[in-house]
This record gives sequence, C-alpha cells and structure tokens, in this order.
Amino acid sequence: MAKASRKNKQPWLIVANWKMNPSAGGEARALARASKRALLRLHSVSLVLCPPFPYLALIKPEKKVFLGAQDCHFEEQGAFTGSVSPNMLKDLGARYVILGHSERRAAGETSDQVAKKVRAALRTGLTVILCVGEQHRDQEGNYLSSIKDQLKESLIFTERQMLSNLIIAYEPVWAIGGKATVVSHDVHQAVIFLKKVLSELYTADLARSIPILYGGSSNASNTEDILKRGGVAGLLVGSASLSKKEFGTMLTVAESLKK
Ligand code: PGA
Repeated sequence: MAKASRKNKQPWLIVANWKMNPSAGGEARALARASKRALLRLHSVSLVLCPPFPYLALIKPEKKVFLGAQDCHFEEQGAFTGSVSPNMLKDLGARYVILGHSERRAAGETSDQVAKKVRAALRTGLTVILCVGEQHRDQEGNYLSSIKDQLKESLIFTERQMLSNLIIAYEPVWAIGGKATVVSHDVHQAVIFLKKVLSELYTADLARSIPILYGGSSNASNTEDILKRGGVAGLLVGSASLSKKEFGTMLTVAESLKK
C-alpha cells in the first residue's frame, strides 16, 4: 500500500514538529544539525523541520531538508498582535506550514479560521500540512463523521487549482503525545476514508494526488509498520523528533523501506 501511495517514487516525507521546543536557540541549531546529518546518506527521505517561529531564522534549509512553521495568520499584515503572516514565513525560508493542529484547535482555533489560514498560506505559495483527526475512536465508527466535518470545513475556501501544495496529516488526538499505541490498520482505515472525502470534495484523481501523513506517537518502533501498511506518504513526528537518536533511527527505517 505504501508503494501505491508513492506512485511517482516520491521520497517519504518526514515532518518534525518540534512544538515549543527546545528551550534555547543553540539547542535548536544542534538538533537541526543532527537531523541533517542523519539524512546525509539517505536517498528516499525528505525532511521538513518545523521549529518555533524564533528559530526559523537560525536554521538553513538545504537539499532535501526544508523549513516549516507550526502556524500562521490568514491576513498578510496589520494589527494582529502576536501573529505571523504566511509571507513573513516565506521570507524566512519556510516552504511548509502546519495548520489546524489539534493543540491549536484545543486552544480555541475554529475550522473556519483554519480554512482561512489554509487559503492564505496556499496563495502565498507555502505547502500546507493540514491536520485533522478525531478526539476518540468508537466501535460504531462515528468518529469518521467528525473527521469528515473537520476536513470539509477546513477546506471550504480551498479551490481545485490550489491543491498541488496541500498535504493532509491524519492525527488522531487520542494517539498524540504517547497517550496510546496506534497500529497501521487504524491508520489505513482513516487514510482510505480521507481519500474518499477528498474525492467527494474534488475529484478522485485529485484526491489520489494529495499526500496523507500520519502523526501521533510515531516513533522508532512503529515507523516500519505505519509506513509499510498505513497507506501514508510519510509521518508528522512530535516528541520523537526531539530525540536525535530516535529520530535518526526513524529516518533510517524509512530509507530501508524504499521501493
Ligand atoms: P507526537 O506529536 O508525535 O508527540 O504524538 C505529533 C503531533 O502532535 O504533531
């Protein structure tokens, strides 16, 4: 299945979401250096480092190592204290932005705001990593309708011609931060469902072309299972991306799964 989702022999996309870590710029530089070193001899993996805003300027993107941010505003500039616009991110070298992360939604961000951010970031030329995922799983499968609503609402302002820079990250909230173990079967089910919703929104071909990542307690032990059998194009990694050793292992495992 992994092969099917990477038809064009795209490398695995591994996105490191550092969240509000590490606590100082020197450590951020060292972490970025370690991740770049781990990637040196790998050919089938692309890496996106998403540090907190202040560290974006400290990290130089290079071949196969891109910079991403963890959020942005939907306006270009103005009286929005504490906010950062998509253009400012682009100007600092960012190519990607994570939007609609569950930690931001939990802090009050609505799907309407996410939808505006997605449109603004795509218009600026950033690649959007749009996060969706259910709070809980129930036996009856009701969780699927919550993912569907979230996805549809978050893409309400996104037109077909903007989709080439869109990535979806399936992040079940119950699995984030080491709270529960996820298995590839759960991931695969959700990926199939997301593709179905995307094809209802756009077309089946466009839906197939939108990469889907998995995020939520991915680590060195479950990387192989999720990448091999989850039907995903890569991973959105939180806490494990802060451990040089563990993250290095994850990158090596991804490389070993190349076609
Ligand atoms: P986690 O975080 O890998 O620490 O669960 C993933 C995320 O929240 O993006």
